[in-house]
Amino acid sequence: MHSVGVSHGLKILVTGGAGYIGSQLIRDLGEDPRFAGSQVVIYDSMRDERFQSLMHLPESGRYDFHYGDLQDADELIAAAQDCDVIVHLAALTNAVVSFGRAEETEEVNYNGTENVLAAADRSPTVRRVIYASTCSVYGETSGCVDERSECHPESPYARFKLQGERSVQALSGRTFGRVLGTSLRLGTVFGLSPGLRVHTVVNIFALHGALGMPITVFGTGDQYRPFVHVRDASSAFLFALTTPETQELVLNVVGENATVNQILSYVKPRFPKLKVRREPGRHLNQLSYEVDGSALRQLGWQPVINVQDGIEEFARLCSPFATQTSGVVIGG
Ligand SMILES: NC(=O)c1ccc[n+]([C@@H]2O[C@H](COP(=O)([O-])OP(=O)(O)OC[C@H]3O[C@@H](n4cnc5c(N)ncnc54)[C@H](O)[C@@H]3O)[C@@H](O)[C@H]2O)c1
Repeated sequence: MHSVGVSHGLKILVTGGAGYIGSQLIRDLGEDPRFAGSQVVIYDSMRDERFQSLMHLPESGRYDFHYGDLQDADELIAAAQDCDVIVHLAALTNAVVSFGRAEETEEVNYNGTENVLAAADRSPTVRRVIYASTCSVYGETSGCVDERSECHPESPYARFKLQGERSVQALSGRTFGRVLGTSLRLGTVFGLSPGLRVHTVVNIFALHGALGMPITVFGTGDQYRPFVHVRDASSAFLFALTTPETQELVLNVVGENATVNQILSYVKPRFPKLKVRREPGRHLNQLSYEVDGSALRQLGWQPVINVQDGIEEFARLCSPFATQTSGVVIGG
């Protein structure tokens, strides 16, 4: 069995490299000495026009941009041709919207993943694929779930992410052990990155709170969700790339579990203009679940930024619109 635990001088294809997580990851790859001499190839359709993600990239990194769509199998084969590893992030990423766009979600998130895996298979050099999955594959659960728990995905987004995981797991068999996959099930990501996205809980609360824009909380607000800071999410991908023990595994990437009300209790003192509308009932994708992130920690990955620190960071960044910051050191 091949093992890619080293990282110097690799050619790394990052699909969705212009996105929220990708824009952080491509910078971390360019700056991390473990990846010195590596080349990062960003593959993105730029559907969200986040061109700022590609500006001010670190001078220590070597970058190339490959414009293309996941649905273009030939373009992916060309992009992956002489790469060593693929980090597959590109996807339609709004779980709520996916309820009304199941077909398109399948096309991009499932068939697109199949195209990425076919490109890995066709390339003579690719050895690893790290796939961005989601903790929402678990669906509504009671208690705390881990990687051995049954999955009951509710949204088309979660359903096709889970199908993608299964294809990633089959990659080793399909390539006779030449290409090994890892699926990282990320909790809801929060915090600042160059390609910031603002449609998930912590970011919405902090940034709408900063500007006095109303937010809506459905149900009691006691629903638990797993969270991870965007820089910790990026470090999990670097960890998977440099740690052979993660090969062929599905791993949760979670900093902490918190309820919506807990997050509100962190946001309110920093952003007093926050206006919360409460609506009874259950909104699409308002799941309550707690996710055990200990397996990845036991292998050696450590998250360093909790939700409260992430909100403090937004308060510093939006200082004219926040109460005076408390001086908490992020990641300290
Ligand atoms: N952000 C989260 O809270 C979160 C949580 C769990 C899992 N994930 C997963 O992590 C990955 C990255 O998430 P993100 O938040 O950075 O997403 P994002 O929406 O910010 O970025 C996605 C990127 O993929 C690109 N893209 C979309 N469709 C494409 C296509 N058909 N062809 C080529 N490029 C395409 C977009 O242009 C964008 O740059 C996704 O797979 C997502 O499902 C994210």
